[in-house]
Amino acid sequence: LNYQTARFMTSAPTLGQCPADQGREVAFAGRSNAGKSSAINTLSRQKALARTSRTPGRTQLINFFSLAGDEACRLVDLPGYGYAKVPEAVKREWQRHLADYLQRRGSLQGVVLLMDVRHPLSEFDEMMLGWADEQDMPVHILLTKADKLKPGAAKSALAKVRSQLREWEDLVSIQLFSSLKRQGLETLEARLDAWLLDTAEA
Ligand code: GTP
Ligand code: MG
Repeated sequence: LNYQTARFMTSAPTLGQCPADQGREVAFAGRSNAGKSSAINTLSRQKALARTSRTPGRTQLINFFSLAGDEACRLVDLPGYGYAKVPEAVKREWQRHLADYLQRRGSLQGVVLLMDVRHPLSEFDEMMLGWADEQDMPVHILLTKADKLKPGAAKSALAKVRSQLREWEDLVSIQLFSSLKRQGLETLEARLDAWLLDTAEA
C-alpha cells in the first residue's frame, strides 16, 4: 500500500459515531504523548495530517484516515489513554469505549500499540494487551522515540520487552521505531500491508 495516499476522512467523538464497520482498518493506540499521531504523519509522509502536540492528550477525537482513495481501507488515530489531567470518571468511560471498540469493530484487523521506548508496558498497555488477547486481536508494538536512546540501549529495551511478552508471542510483534529518524518505517509498513491487504475481501 502507498501510505502517502492517506487522507483525513472524519473525526468521531464516540465510537458510536464511527464510519460504517466495513472493509479493513488498523488502529493506533497507546498512552498520551507516545507518538501515535507522529507515526501516522511519518507513514503518510505528511507533516500535519494528524495533529501532534507536546501537550499530552492533544488527540481527543477518534480520527479516521482513508488510504488509496478507498474509504474501506483505513488508519485510525485513537485518543491517548492515561492522560493525567483527565478526570478519573472520563478515563474509565474512555476505557470502556476502547474495550468495546476492540470487541465489536469487525473491520479492525490489528492494533498498533505505541509505547515510549523509555517507559514501556505501563499498566494501561498491559490492559490493552489483555483486551486484545481476549479478542485474539493481533498487536504490533512500536517502541517509539528510539532516537532518544543510544542504539545499544534501544536494542536491550527491545529484548527486554520481547522477553516480558513471550507468553503472547503468537499475537504480538515488536519493533523499535522513531518518527524523528524514520527508523523502522519499512517494518511497520510490511505489518500494515499484511493486515490491510488481505486477498480475501472483508
Ligand atoms: P496524544 O494525541 O496526546 O495521545 O499523543 P500522541 O501519541 O499522538 O503523540 P504525538 O504524536 O502528538 O507526539 C507527542 C510528542 O512526542 C511530540 O512533541 C512529538 O514531536 C514527539 N515525538 C513523537 N515521535 C517522536 C520520535 O520518534 N522521536 C522524538 N524524539 N520525539 C517524538
Ligand atoms: Mg495524537
